Parts: sequence; C-alpha cells; structure tokens
Amino acid sequence: MKVLVVGSGGREHSIVKKLVESNQVSNIYAAPGNGGISAEATCVDIRETEIDKLVTFARDMQIDWTIVGPEVPLIEGIVDAFQLADLRIFGPTKKAAIIEGSKDFAKAFMKRHHIPTANYATFTDCDQAKAYIQKNGAPIVIKADGLAAGKGVVVATTVEQAIEAVESMLLDNRFGGAGSRVVIEEFLEGKEFTLMAFVNGSKVYPLLPARDHKRAYDDDQGPNTGGMGAYSPVPDLDQSVIREVEEHILQKAAEGMVQEDRPFTGILYAGIIETMNGPKVIEFNARLGDPETQVVLPLLENDLIQVIEDVMNEKDPVLKWKEGYAIGVVVASKGYPGTYEKQIPLPSFIENAESYVVHAGTILAENNTYQAIGGRVLLVGAVEETIEKAHQSVYNFLKQFEQTNDFFFRRDIGRTKINVKNS
Ligand code: AMP
Ligand code: GLY
Repeated sequence: MKVLVVGSGGREHSIVKKLVESNQVSNIYAAPGNGGISAEATCVDIRETEIDKLVTFARDMQIDWTIVGPEVPLIEGIVDAFQLADLRIFGPTKKAAIIEGSKDFAKAFMKRHHIPTANYATFTDCDQAKAYIQKNGAPIVIKADGLAAGKGVVVATTVEQAIEAVESMLLDNRFGGAGSRVVIEEFLEGKEFTLMAFVNGSKVYPLLPARDHKRAYDDDQGPNTGGMGAYSPVPDLDQSVIREVEEHILQKAAEGMVQEDRPFTGILYAGIIETMNGPKVIEFNARLGDPETQVVLPLLENDLIQVIEDVMNEKDPVLKWKEGYAIGVVVASKGYPGTYEKQIPLPSFIENAESYVVHAGTILAENNTYQAIGGRVLLVGAVEETIEKAHQSVYNFLKQFEQTNDFFFRRDIGRTKINVKNS
C-alpha cells in the first residue's frame, strides 16, 4: 500500500513511524513533512491546505490511503474533495469537522445531546458579553468560536482579564472572523485528560487516555503552548471515569452526529476535566491530538493501517496495547510560545534503545544536520513498565540538550496536573 500523511508536526512523524512498522505499507509520503520525517518517508512539497494539489498528487501516485493530521484541512473540506475524486482518506468531512471548527456548534450540540460540559453562553455583542462576565464573576473562560491556532482560549482569573479578552476578540478583531463570536463558559475545576477514539458513524473504538501539559514552564507556570509534553495512560484515572467518557461522551457524540446527518468518521478527540460532578467536556477535536499522539501510538500494538481499514469497512478492530507507560517531553526553541530564532542547528544527539525521537519543527539542512524552524522542535519519548522508569529514560536522553542555550524543555512531565482555581 502507498500511504500519504498530510501535515508537518510531531503528530505526523509519529503516524509515519507507526506506518513504517506495517508490513502492508510499501511507500510512505508526507506533505509537507519535516526534517525527521524525511529520513523515514518521501516528503512532498505541498502544503496541508493545498487541497487540489493533494488530490492531484494522490490520484497521480495511486495512493491507497491518505491520513490527515491537522484540523485546518479537515475544516476546509479535504475529505470531501478526496471522496469526490474517489480517493480513500481517513478523517471527517467538513460537515462533521465543525465539531472542532465552531465552539458554538460544539456547545449547542452537547446541550442537544445531554453531553456533560461547562455551562456557557455565546455572544457577538461586546456589551452583552461584558454584562454576562460581571454577573458570573471570575474565574471564567473566554473562547473564540472559530480556529485560532490554539490561542483562542483565555482562562481569566479576574473579571478585568475576561473583559480584556472579549474586547480583543469582539472589538479589536484579534482573531478576525474566528473571534467575531465568543463562547463564555464556566471554569471547571479538576484534573484534565484526553480521550481519543477511532469513529465511523456510531461505531466508537477508544484509544488509551493521555495527559498533555500545556503551560510552557514547570509546575504549570507560564503561557499556554501547543503542548510541552504528555504521558499515557493516566495512572490517577479510575477505570469507571474512562468508561463514563466512552459511553456518555464519545459514544453519545458519535450517535448525535449521525442523528444530525453529520456522521463523523476519523478520530474524535475529547478534552475532559474530571470535576466533582463527573467528567465534563472542555473541547472536541476532529483529529489526533499533538503531543498526545506521540505517546499513545507507541503503545498501540496493532498495525495502524489495518485498524483504519477495519474501522472504515465496518469490521470491529480489537485494539491491543503494550503494558506500561509512555512519556514524551517536548524540546522547544528558546522564546516559544513567543518569538524565537529560526534555522538554529540542533545539537548533535545520539539515539538509543531506551527512547525515541519525534521531530516537529525541523528541516534537514544541506550538510545533513537538522535545523530548528519551529517553536516545538522535537519530542523525546520512552515506553517503560512504570511511569517513573519512562521519566528516567527520557530525562537521561535529554542530558544531551542541557548544554544548549537555544532550546528548553520542562523537567516535570509525568507529574499529575490539577486545574485549581486562582492558580
Ligand atoms: P484549548 O486551547 O481549547 O486546548 O484550551 C486551553 C486550556 O484551557 C485547556 O487545556 C484547559 O486547561 C483550559 N480550559 C478550557 N476550557 C476550560 C474550562 N471550561 N474550565 C477550565 N479550564 C478550561
Ligand atoms: N493537545 C491538544 C490538541 O491537540 O489540541
């Protein structure tokens, strides 16, 4: 089989690594890919949003399956375009990807289907939004309705911060159209985790739970990022909570999308906070999480392309998981998530059997060395019997990055994250 992976981050490198293991896959292409991917697959110079070019490439190269990593092409209708051209692709249609593309849609959908989530209201008028904030007080969460490259959520600890956030979205058009409508929601207190599932219509096959670390610095300090590390599974989660999310959140969402004539196919991602009143949804995504994928896929024993074929052909796949835990720690450019220098050479590092390296914002330069061109550069991961051992293996490897002033990483990945008021 020939497989095309769309995207250029760590998530996509992880997908490529999983495909390399498959004895059914003969050729792997990535558009556009990254430095690390180029060592394991053929990178194609087409951006993830150049949908027509991707269709032409897949048709010309007789690609058997296309797997889409990021949300933007999904929300722009890449799956619809491939289906129209009779090409096999794994991901939701535009109509289904709206579950991630519009927070207002997702909230109203959850309400219609009695899926537990934070209370909320939606506004386009700034004065009404401000009145709502005054009435409800802080902490309170402000979300741009549309896609804002992970920057559209403000967890406001004071009323002033909340007002500033709605003003920047509704009056100053900080996110353009994506922020011309805002969802204001109740702050949920509790531990956060991610549960993703393969979905085809009303059929749901959950992956292992994972936990992402979104803040830039240790002890969950500093600005929000795309994710500084993750681990899977999540030791402090009760099996009953996972089952509740599977049955009352993912299953209900899949069935709700079918009922609303927007059947979802692909990966459905539920971002959850385990509150005192049970697990509640903070977001749905229409794709694999980044960096969760980089710790979940290494634990999957099945052939990924076989799972996708089975899910799509309505044959129930039996997912098998390695015992133990995976941890992944992101190495980021100094300055991230703010501004940072580009084309900085990576320090040379030696890979070992105890860990694995996933590339994100890298390119392979002419002299066969890697350069950093993105905020998140690498993820170093390890799978071990215990979370402590996995932690040790990763941080042993990362000693090779301690001497550099150009990159940084968190030292506390693998510790429990608790979302506490006023923290
Ligand atoms: P997002 O950019 O959608 O991934 O959200 C960023 C972060 O905001 C999440 O990972 C949560 O930690 C936090 N968050 C989002 N919604 C809520 C909420 N209703 N209550 C508390 N924290 C939230
Ligand atoms: N890890 C969060 C996301 O992929 O959106």
